[in-house]
Amino acid sequence: EKAGYDHFMLKEIHEQTTSIQNAFAGRISEIEGSVKFENLKLTRKDIQNISRIQIIACGTSWNAGLMSKYLFEQLAGIHTDVDIASEFRYGYPVLCGDTLTVAITQSGETADTLAAVRGAKSYGCRTLAITNVVGSTITREVNETIYTRSGPEIGVAATKTFTGQLIALYLLALHSGRMRGNIGHEDMKNILISLKKIPGQVQRILNNRDKVHRCASMFSDTDSYFFIGRYLNYPVALEAALKLKEISYIYAEGYAAGELKHGPLALIKEGTPVVAIATGGHTYSKMLNNIKEIKARGATVIAIADEDDQEIQKYADIIIPVPKTHELLSPVLSTIILQLLAYYTALERGCSIDKPRNLAKSVTVE
Ligand code: M6R
Repeated sequence: EKAGYDHFMLKEIHEQTTSIQNAFAGRISEIEGSVKFENLKLTRKDIQNISRIQIIACGTSWNAGLMSKYLFEQLAGIHTDVDIASEFRYGYPVLCGDTLTVAITQSGETADTLAAVRGAKSYGCRTLAITNVVGSTITREVNETIYTRSGPEIGVAATKTFTGQLIALYLLALHSGRMRGNIGHEDMKNILISLKKIPGQVQRILNNRDKVHRCASMFSDTDSYFFIGRYLNYPVALEAALKLKEISYIYAEGYAAGELKHGPLALIKEGTPVVAIATGGHTYSKMLNNIKEIKARGATVIAIADEDDQEIQKYADIIIPVPKTHELLSPVLSTIILQLLAYYTALERGCSIDKPRNLAKSVTVE
């Protein structure tokens, strides 16, 4: 049941204080600077021998996969490719025995993802699934499974299962980095300490949800929305756009901010809302330049920025602050703000939030 919430989606957004906690509970030790998964068969040697990771997924799970490419490459030094399952299954991928194929699917039943995994197995790859559903079909296809432990998700729009996937992928990338000697003990410890604070910070975001609601109300009549970000905030932008179009039916696009001037900038007109995910990190100053470019074309800029940011007010029209965390983890927090933005926009527009038109929770046919 909805436990007093108007929609399952809102309930599930709120449940992230505990679902995120569950995703890492018992799996991390910040004192030892280590991660361990129950039943993981991959040994240190196996992880050292991985030459490449191949991610396969659809929709929101693909967005989590794109985020993990940055994580596996930065934290573990493993080259990672991310493919859409429906494309991968009809392509001619170059895979070999030391490729680890990671299938990401919350339901564990997505037809294209299952077919793509079967394809990867035919090349002799080792396979690992990240899923939320215990005993789902994917778990019977792969060598091993990491569960996201998000609890049942009823809303068609994936929310808590997406952040659950992100946490599982952070942990896998950190563990791989540790096993390969790519991350030092101190760095690992700092990230894990920050991770433990995330559930409390999610609560703070939820407590301030009225600000997001007000922002959503201001633009609920717009005919298009843009979301831009760089590096880890690029998949955040893609996921925000997917969520908004899925439940509010507003045309929305997510872009890598540096790509705007290669075409999409032509779509920006007076008053177009552009959400710039501009949390701190090595691409921050580049984001400020991008914000200037779009402001010059008349866009209204809504910036998602660190709460201690003193600079951003010179650039953006509206600022939604994010609690300060480790640079690598801020996508989890920004995502929750953007889930709320999609939710309140759809609410203002009177949409069928939990069951959007034309969509099903689990896509078990091709
Ligand atoms: O169950 P899966 O993670 O394999 O599902 C993949 C997509 O169908 C799913 O993420 C879809 O994009 C969501 N409805 C998005 O909110």
